[in-house]
Amino acid sequence: MSELTIAMPKGRIFEEAVQMLRLAGYSLPNAFEESRKLIVEVPEESLRFILAKPMDVPTYVEHGVADVGVAGKDVMLEEKREVHEVLDLKISACHMAVAALPGYEKGELNPKVASKYPNLATRFFKEQGEQVEIIKLNGSIELAPIMGLAERIVDIVSTGQTLRENGLVELEQIEEITSRLIVNSASYRLKADVIGNMVERLGKVVKGTV
Ligand code: PRP
Repeated sequence: MSELTIAMPKGRIFEEAVQMLRLAGYSLPNAFEESRKLIVEVPEESLRFILAKPMDVPTYVEHGVADVGVAGKDVMLEEKREVHEVLDLKISACHMAVAALPGYEKGELNPKVASKYPNLATRFFKEQGEQVEIIKLNGSIELAPIMGLAERIVDIVSTGQTLRENGLVELEQIEEITSRLIVNSASYRLKADVIGNMVERLGKVVKGTV
């Protein structure tokens, strides 16, 4: 029986998070990262991993299907789920930004902004006192200004390569983003020992003291 179920985001954060767990002393099987299985049991550590879409990780944790999870701050800001954010893992660092084609100037009527993060984008422009229409997309956001779907986008910028290669420029930075360890409220109480131990061990990896 697994003591702890961990929801992990499929994709690039997964490998970094697995690496951190290994550095924290968890012994995870070698081919772990290459598997296409969505549920992976690691009986020797009493751990079960479930692999979800990054945006869905807080949902699994909020509902208690997973005890803990790894979620980007971008996802936390977009989803606003009732979970405890217990540790900044400082991995997958990037930032959320507004971008547009060069020469973009404010002032158009009914300005449109495309984003995979409609809630976050809505809040940002409201705080700025600007009324915009948000167009929700699921990926390849950089297409929107080029194709005339929206004048601006709100999206993650990591290396900046996607913006550069598609001829877009960053207008303003909204938020620094890193991945966080999140915990279900009930699990935090009921499995305090095993979760506390994990937070402590990962905390040492973050600080570089292991
Ligand atoms: C993300 C993001 C940008 C890109 C930024 O997309 O939405 O498009 O990465 O990275 P860069 O600054 O290093 O180029 P992702 O690859 O997750 O795919 P998506 O377009 O489907 O969201």
